[in-house]
Amino acid sequence: MEVSLKNQVAIITGASSGIGTGIAKSIAEAGATVIINHSSEKSLENAQEVLKEITDAGGNGITYQCDVSKEDEVIKMFKDVIEKFGTVDILINNAGIQKDAKFTEMTLDDWNAVMNVNLTGHFLCSREAIKEFLRRGIDTSRSVACGKIIHISSVHEVIPWAGHANYAASKGAIKMLMQTLAQEYGPDKIRVNSIGPGAIQTPINKAAWETKDALNSLLELIPYNRIGQPKDIGNLAAFLASDLADYISGASIFVDGGMTSLESFADNG
Ligand code: BGC
Repeated sequence: MEVSLKNQVAIITGASSGIGTGIAKSIAEAGATVIINHSSEKSLENAQEVLKEITDAGGNGITYQCDVSKEDEVIKMFKDVIEKFGTVDILINNAGIQKDAKFTEMTLDDWNAVMNVNLTGHFLCSREAIKEFLRRGIDTSRSVACGKIIHISSVHEVIPWAGHANYAASKGAIKMLMQTLAQEYGPDKIRVNSIGPGAIQTPINKAAWETKDALNSLLELIPYNRIGQPKDIGNLAAFLASDLADYISGASIFVDGGMTSLESFADNG
């Protein structure tokens, strides 16, 4: 049994660091051409490093700068990628940010910034992807499905998170966006799913793992007793995008070492 994404083109948003990088590597390893999206000039160097690691390992891809919260930039990214590679088969909506604050101190700018990237970005990219999937139709030399979308959500799709109302609200909303798209475009053979990462060791949650004390208190929330790695998410993303997962649609799958099973209730409650 081989997870193969040969002859396919995948856009991975926010792929210049963290979970996005892990996903880009796994998807490239499975044989797809990867578009390593990054949001700004500042992240170009990182994106180029990711691309180098991928091509050194025998993979294929390009870097592409686009702020996923900007409609004109997203439209242009899809147009350019389709012009260069013919089509897009897989979209991984990964780009996401945190702007944490106590709720009464949360500014509208912090709220909007998180919603714009974490939710509107998923909307804009999914819309352009689905238009292209429908234009191309099914091509079984690529995949038995017409197209695949994977949203990167979070355990905070179901676990409330004090001090992170904007982030948790955006992740809860992703679930309904994902399921609605799976319902609306299932008859067109477009599969839409979410992955809900738990604590994965990346720059976004550095404060939670960089000291021994922080890591120990984080591990109390994880029954499997280790922090996750980007590869843990990449493995599932490659599988979900492949035809091995052809009967999986509308699902949220948590990759969290058991975090959503609420370890804090293990001995009492
Ligand atoms: C957040 C991380 C956090 C993890 C578990 C993720 O969605 O981005 O900062 O460590 O959830 O709480």
